[in-house]
Amino acid sequence: MKKKLIAGNWKMNGSLAANEGLVTALRAGLGVPNCHVALCVPSVYLPQMQALVAGSSIDLGAQDVSQHESGAFTGEVSGNMLKEFGVHYCIVGHSERREYHFETDALVAAKTQRALACGITPIVCVGETLAEREAGKTEEVVKRQLAAVIHANGHCISEIVVAYEPVWAIGTGKTASTEQAQQVHAVLRAQLKAASPQADRIHILYGGSMNAANAAQLLAQPDIDGGLVGGASLKAPDFLSIIASAL
Ligand code: 13P
Repeated sequence: MKKKLIAGNWKMNGSLAANEGLVTALRAGLGVPNCHVALCVPSVYLPQMQALVAGSSIDLGAQDVSQHESGAFTGEVSGNMLKEFGVHYCIVGHSERREYHFETDALVAAKTQRALACGITPIVCVGETLAEREAGKTEEVVKRQLAAVIHANGHCISEIVVAYEPVWAIGTGKTASTEQAQQVHAVLRAQLKAASPQADRIHILYGGSMNAANAAQLLAQPDIDGGLVGGASLKAPDFLSIIASAL
């Protein structure tokens, strides 16, 4: 069985002092984890974080990447730039970027392509809003979001990580039930299997109010291969506890 992946998404949080304190506490409590561990941090902190995680089992991640290689794109950060700071993972298509930055399925697919071209593992986020769930459209929405990425990336699809993050569960304290989460993960797994004979190696993470109390049950589901953790990744004891439950 593949090792699980627990990735923290710090979102727009942190400071030089807070990052140092958090990573120091994580390193002190981590030991040799049973799972892969990653921290997706604001790009501006990558140089600091590269030094802080050096020699540990923590991999570095970014939270977004430009779909362009280089050039006149003010404010953007390229995949090659991320790679220079040891970035292993990059979140793409987080619902906050889809909502606040108007990212479309096609743009998310293009960013996934760029990350892969730079040797960075994209963590592709999909998920339905509360209105979509209530309208019975959950499957349709997540399949449409993932299909765009599959279509643009062909056989490379086995190199991605997928994160199912129901929008209504993000930062709300409302977690999807284990059954709800497993059901969607199984749909995504089937879609990936139809696209790639190597789909079993793809990690499908759950994200949305994952915490120390609910992680073990979610992570015990057959198609949940890890977590993408927001708020709880900012507190060392909580994040360590989630990591410890990823067996
Ligand atoms: P919370 O864990 O804070 O709900 O955030 C989830 C998330 O958006 C991770 O990408």
